[in-house]
Amino acid sequence: MRTLIKNAVCVLPDGLASVDVLVDGERIVSVDAPATTVADEIVDASGLHLLPGVIDDQVHFRDPGLTHKEDLHTGSRACAKGGVTTFLEMPNTVPAATTRAAIDAKLAIAAEKSVVNYGFYIGATADNLDELRAADGVPGIKIFIGSSTGDLLVDDQDALERIFAETTLPICAHCEDETTVRGNAAALGDAVDVTDHSRIRSAEAALIATRRAIDLAHRHHHRFHVLHVSTAAEAALLADHRDVVTGEACVHHLEFSVDDYPRLGTRIQMNPSIKTTDDVAALWAALRDGRLQVVATDHAPHTLDEKARPYPASPSGLPAVENSLALMLNAVHERACTLEQVVHWMCDAPARVWDIVGKGRIADGYDADLVLVDLALEKTVRDAEQETKSRWSPWDGATLRGWPVRTWVLGRTVFRDGRVCDDERGRPARYDHSLGGYWAGRA
Ligand code: DOR
Repeated sequence: MRTLIKNAVCVLPDGLASVDVLVDGERIVSVDAPATTVADEIVDASGLHLLPGVIDDQVHFRDPGLTHKEDLHTGSRACAKGGVTTFLEMPNTVPAATTRAAIDAKLAIAAEKSVVNYGFYIGATADNLDELRAADGVPGIKIFIGSSTGDLLVDDQDALERIFAETTLPICAHCEDETTVRGNAAALGDAVDVTDHSRIRSAEAALIATRRAIDLAHRHHHRFHVLHVSTAAEAALLADHRDVVTGEACVHHLEFSVDDYPRLGTRIQMNPSIKTTDDVAALWAALRDGRLQVVATDHAPHTLDEKARPYPASPSGLPAVENSLALMLNAVHERACTLEQVVHWMCDAPARVWDIVGKGRIADGYDADLVLVDLALEKTVRDAEQETKSRWSPWDGATLRGWPVRTWVLGRTVFRDGRVCDDERGRPARYDHSLGGYWAGRA
């Protein structure tokens, strides 16, 4: 099947260009195809922009074990609708993905259910070093330095030293200092509500854990990605570590502040917690000046019934994967960033951080994971229209300008005219860790 996408403005690695893109089978075969090119389908994309598909390097799709919240079918349908063509999923499923066998089980479920491409991190425990050393075909190792949903926590210094010293895969971590979080919770006592979540999971807790993890990465010269950076202080730290360390901001930390608790309550209860408007501004500044490289979601669905439990029984996490690109396109509309920056943060940079082969760019020979967006299209996010099994969004009621209108995964259409086409299945992402990560070859 050959598809010619004509008349779009394409976001190429070196900027915007009005070129026609030819896809043959699963690959992009020509960027700037001649007008005489013959194809099975010619897509007239006049007035639209063509982007590489989004790579979301932090999602929780709950499969296996917690599939009443989400599964690899519903989560991947939400991806297709949102222009996300590859997701990397976290290990806090049930059972936790801390062994080769558990990773293989997830890959088998994804092969059956996932509409888009996928990858699964292996989770670290205090005693699974052999599994971490032997793991291949995974983007990297995930450590919860600070507990969140599930029971994956590695807080012991000796265990952390061993993981950084004795493994070779890139590492990423959830950084919130457990001792600080417990101390804050004890000090506040039982009379707490959701607004206390950001006092318990404080800015200091995030900074202490991020500093500790960066120190480990440095001393062991081990590639390390700080997940969901949420504070100005962590962003400031990252300035000094542009060799082995990269960092990610999530859309909820770029959009919400503690001032939103009265309006949204537990809908924005997240770990790390939502912080102040100053932190939000600092995260945007850190993306713009390159201290942070990646924008992701940490898509972490729970049912609305679960979220309605009184705090702190309400679980932390929110779904975002079907709205993240639209949120960032809306930010382009509001002049917070450029379209090229969005493509760098959401497509190219995650591919480089995790050494993903053949993705993240519109270039000859790259995979035909593509998304066509209409920067002028305005739509309002509605709970009832969400593809996520949890059927809600913290952005319910928000009108955003700029939406995906068609998504291709490996040359096959998975979203078009407002509908997910889910008869196709994605593939596992491929990694070449000898590529050396985001900073390889950069000044
Ligand atoms: O709030 C969160 N919820 N943060 C995480 O890192 C995990 C997630 C979940 O899995 O629910």
